[in-house]
Amino acid sequence: MKFAAALVALISASLVSSEVVWSFKKYQDGVEVDFEEGPVTKFQSQALQKVSDARRKRIDSRIAGRSTQTTVTSSNWCGAAVTGTTFSSVVGTWTVPAITRRSGQSSGSEPAISQWVGIDGYSDDALIQGGTISQLVSGSQQNAAWTEMLPAASKDVSLTVETGDKITVNVTATGTSSGTVTLENVTRGTSVVGKVSGGSRLSQNSAEWILEDFEEGSSLVAFAGFPTSTFTGSAIKSGTSVSPASATLIDIVQSSTLCSATLSGSTVELSDS
Ligand SMILES: *[C@@H]1O[C@H](CO)[C@@H](O)[C@H](O)[C@H]1NC(C)=O
Ligand SMILES: *[C@@H]1O[C@H](CO)[C@@H](O)[C@H](O)[C@H]1NC(C)=O
Repeated sequence: MKFAAALVALISASLVSSEVVWSFKKYQDGVEVDFEEGPVTKFQSQALQKVSDARRKRIDSRIAGRSTQTTVTSSNWCGAAVTGTTFSSVVGTWTVPAITRRSGQSSGSEPAISQWVGIDGYSDDALIQGGTISQLVSGSQQNAAWTEMLPAASKDVSLTVETGDKITVNVTATGTSSGTVTLENVTRGTSVVGKVSGGSRLSQNSAEWILEDFEEGSSLVAFAGFPTSTFTGSAIKSGTSVSPASATLIDIVQSSTLCSATLSGSTVELSDS
């Protein structure tokens, strides 16, 4: 697989990650086809890292009486999270964007982003998720689809993803430490279904749609520039469908704001800034 520069084929099963067991099936237009497992990625998504608990209220002054939207800041997450009890499922659709190097990033810095949906991780350290990563490697963009259940590292799922592809991911908790992640290349009718058990106990108290500056080793990767991107989708909370319209928004702030989340109806919009 040509994503070799961004993936580590050799990973010894650590005590912690060996508890998390995934099994995958792949489908083309609904018919099962051979699934070849990709290597474990060297990237890892992390629970929300808040840089500030100071909550800013955004009031749309143009619409009298409109409810306020709460935005929190984070060093690694940008997007929207719905909180409460009990989330059993979340689905999100996005397009894999053409990413760029930010000014000041050297050609060797290989900037990247990931986009995903997941359950938990907003107010706890458990997290089950699935999504895509995009990275500039020697100037050209490479993309991959992955699943992750903390505390194990993410797994590449061998679903070819091209820049511009429309991706839909459904993450469903089937127990307190088990779940199903379905990743679909909507453009081509290809999907991968991963079932997982083990890992951190899920509290199911958040569901989120996130564009992340993820970690490689224990530091954040260079965060790529991206065109304005969106998530559409919904979550299931105590059996009822909820949209991101009531979500808390999350901006990435490092030395400056790098990504701002807003809502347009129930569509989450992410702007590079
Ligand atoms: C995710 O898929 C499951 C199984 O098909 C479905 O029951 C659930 O409603 C989906 N989740 C959402 C949020 O639509
Ligand atoms: C997903 O769809 C795109 C077409 O937009 C295609 O280039 C890519 O190879 C597809 N992936 C798979 C696994 O079929």
